[in-house]
Amino acid sequence: MRQGLDMASSALESFVSQAAAHTRDRDPADCVLALAPLMLELIEQAPTFLEPRHYRSDPNHYARNLVYAAPDASLSLYTLVWSPGQWTPVHDHGSWGVVGVLKGVLEERSYVRLSPDRGADEGIHLVRGGVILLGRGAVTSFVPNPDHIHVTGVSAQRPRAVSLHLYGRTMNSFNTYDVAAGTRRRVDVVHNES
Ligand SMILES: [Fe+2]
Repeated sequence: MRQGLDMASSALESFVSQAAAHTRDRDPADCVLALAPLMLELIEQAPTFLEPRHYRSDPNHYARNLVYAAPDASLSLYTLVWSPGQWTPVHDHGSWGVVGVLKGVLEERSYVRLSPDRGADEGIHLVRGGVILLGRGAVTSFVPNPDHIHVTGVSAQRPRAVSLHLYGRTMNSFNTYDVAAGTRRRVDVVHNES
């Protein structure tokens, strides 16, 4: 796992230390408010700290490559590599997050929750919401509660996309939704550690 001491790039080191300072004991909306401008800068600095291993793809699903994980699990940064036609399931994160696009066009399709009980795993009524197209240099963010429920990916007609994702915890699991059945379940999310 990449941690503070072996980070080669001062840009990454600076980002991580500022992110930690801006998010400690803060409201999620304040975290993303502070971090979105930093992510905008980090995108420009990405060539100074990303290595070939961070651009690994997977033929079977989008690839998650760990860039940094805080020792106390309070922050994690990944590159996600999206080959044409690769999508997430419908999901939420249970955390705030800030996303910056390094390459290609990342598409996000939102869902709107109509049922009021956010604690239940059944009886979840979701309807499709809007779509956002995020080109290179774009930054987006989300906060939990209400859950930010969406599908993210790259359409089959577009080239590969690469994005940077910072989360307010180690992102090793998330809620996925079966929209037709109105259910959700927690699933583990894998990533390449090194
Ligand atoms: Fe997501």
